Amino acid sequence: WALMRPTIDAITRLKRERNAVILAHNYMSPAIYHGVADIVGDSLALAAQAVEAQGDVIVMAGVHFMAETAKLLNPAKTVLMPDLKAGCSLAESITGADVRALRARHPGVPVVAYVNTSADVKAEVDICCTSGNAVKVVESLNAPEVIFLPDKYLAAYVASQTSVRIIPWDGRCEVHEQFTAADIAEFRAAHDDLTVIAHPECPPDVLAAADFAGSTAQMQEFVRTRTPKTVFMVTECSMSDNITAESPQTTFVRPCMLCPHMQRITLDNIRTALETLEPRVEIPADVAARARASVERMLAVGR
Ligand code: 13P
Ligand code: SF4
Repeated sequence: WALMRPTIDAITRLKRERNAVILAHNYMSPAIYHGVADIVGDSLALAAQAVEAQGDVIVMAGVHFMAETAKLLNPAKTVLMPDLKAGCSLAESITGADVRALRARHPGVPVVAYVNTSADVKAEVDICCTSGNAVKVVESLNAPEVIFLPDKYLAAYVASQTSVRIIPWDGRCEVHEQFTAADIAEFRAAHDDLTVIAHPECPPDVLAAADFAGSTAQMQEFVRTRTPKTVFMVTECSMSDNITAESPQTTFVRPCMLCPHMQRITLDNIRTALETLEPRVEIPADVAARARASVERMLAVGR
């Protein structure tokens, strides 16, 4: 922390000068999460908080689709993305043209898009969801079947929780798809009384072997309220690092699986973004209007 202090102090000063807020996803490094973020949370919380954000500038310490969502909800503000290359394997798995082709194959079937998609994709769908409200969003449509994209594992999880027939897309999170049920068995054998909580982007056999599945904020809430003795959080490992301080009663065990896209965001590039007010996220007006409607419908459904 001593080495990072000058950069943290510079960012704090720049935030004041630029009238800026930093929104940070739960997967940011502890230096960002604890050192400079104004608001932290899962994708749903960051979208909801973006609507409320004060100031003229939003810095998204997260990945590109999160910055796009913040821009959709704040068209008049400057939204900075410290590294434009911070993408997401799910968002890259599908385009707006793919959604139009899916609709042609399944006429009249509503389309739900996970927020881990580009604004182009959000513009083509009926409603967005996050892992924190996917089942609720699907059921809000009152339809017998729903196209759910792009995460095939989140789609399988939703299908396991509802009677709505789910038509999936073949996208996967490059981080969560690497966990296996064998990893869980190994950790359970090595630690007595282990509680396993997994993100629903994990494959179905991993979720079946876990004690709880939920979004990053729901996992954090689980640890905060249930105070388990030893936990394996089956997700990006910065999560455990970030919540260790608030949950001293819990020991976190894990293999360290980092999201290479989230890790692109650093104190240094946050500082540069605030100094230069670049790179900015911009979305063409026609795409933005339709994509915003999909996100706003999701926020109306809530958590
Ligand atoms: P959450 O919405 O649960 O924070 O997940 C976002 C994400 O990218 C998970 O990999
Ligand atoms: Fe995308 Fe997976 Fe990284 Fe989340 S952890 S941003 S879903 S690649």
